[in-house]
Amino acid sequence: MSSTWSDTTRTVGGEEEQQQPPHQQQQHQQQEEAAAAAAAVVLPSSRSPVALITAGSAGVGAATARLLARRGYRVVINFSRNTERARKVVGELQQLSRLPAHEIQNEHGNAFLAIRADLGRRDEIGRLVRETVVQMGRLDVLFSNGGWTKFRDMTSIDDNTIEEDWDMSFNINVKSHLWLMQAAKKHLDESEGVFITTASAAGMTPSGSSLAYSVTKAAQIHLVKNLAVMAAPRIRVNSVSPGLLLTEWSDRFSEQAKDAWRQKTKLKRFPTVEDVAEQVLTFAKSRSMTGVNIPIDAGFIN
Ligand SMILES: NC(=O)c1ccc[n+]([C@@H]2O[C@H](COP(=O)([O-])OP(=O)(O)OC[C@H]3O[C@@H](n4cnc5c(N)ncnc54)[C@H](OP(=O)(O)O)[C@@H]3O)[C@@H](O)[C@H]2O)c1
Repeated sequence: MSSTWSDTTRTVGGEEEQQQPPHQQQQHQQQEEAAAAAAAVVLPSSRSPVALITAGSAGVGAATARLLARRGYRVVINFSRNTERARKVVGELQQLSRLPAHEIQNEHGNAFLAIRADLGRRDEIGRLVRETVVQMGRLDVLFSNGGWTKFRDMTSIDDNTIEEDWDMSFNINVKSHLWLMQAAKKHLDESEGVFITTASAAGMTPSGSSLAYSVTKAAQIHLVKNLAVMAAPRIRVNSVSPGLLLTEWSDRFSEQAKDAWRQKTKLKRFPTVEDVAEQVLTFAKSRSMTGVNIPIDAGFIN
């Protein structure tokens, strides 16, 4: 089974892991590119589409990975800290997949992998995309799902004027999606693929965990509309905007705040990560949707 380590990126898909000294990185990159060319020719599963899901080892990302695995995709999930959790999700994807066993794992590679990369670092984003294509031979769906917030008091301007919050929010909620799109463009051009991001209902109406989060999620939605123009006609670019989802992320809201949010929805329910995953799959399949932002919010906004 194949797996690699490097300074910035860790691939988890097998049993062994090796450390890559930094001075060998350039040589390693050339080897990776040669391997990608070879893999594209010989890997039997290479005709199956490939999805890269950032922030993919929990919540929305993991639910989408499960759905896409069931629907015949090969999937790379990205994470930054919790290797064990990412490894477990990869194991689940292997079990859920309907690909023939020899395509899930063979001497040329794995149909399901986890790659460690910090979405806050542009160099790691570039490496994440490069390594995905090296390992899988192609890229059809990039689900750019990473987000960042620091919970603040939404009634206080003073509590929402911490400069570090704004820098981090802008870095992850806006710039990381742009860097990912740039790094993936030539591969998505080749596959006539799709770039999908997770924005937020907080980017559509004043709400959410902080002012910096709400404003940068609004910027993310506008970024998507612009990228849809720039990436056309070969690549489609869309976003989903979930309302409050019961993931680890929203554990930071009090039970009272969560219930108040639910009471404001027309459907008196929380949307689920599976609801969001279904919309991502629809975007992945539809050849006629681009520049679209879909709220999945149980009727919170409208
Ligand atoms: N939950 C909500 O209520 C809600 C509502 C609207 C929108 N959203 C948006 O939905 C998206 C996903 O949220 P979620 O609720 O599914 O989150 P989650 O359950 O907390 O999962 C977070 C995922 O992100 C990874 N991650 C965290 N920091 C990272 C980094 N710097 N680089 C790479 N990966 C990183 C985590 O892996 P490691 O821990 O291993 O790094 C994990 O896989 C975000 O964009 C969020 O803004 C969420």
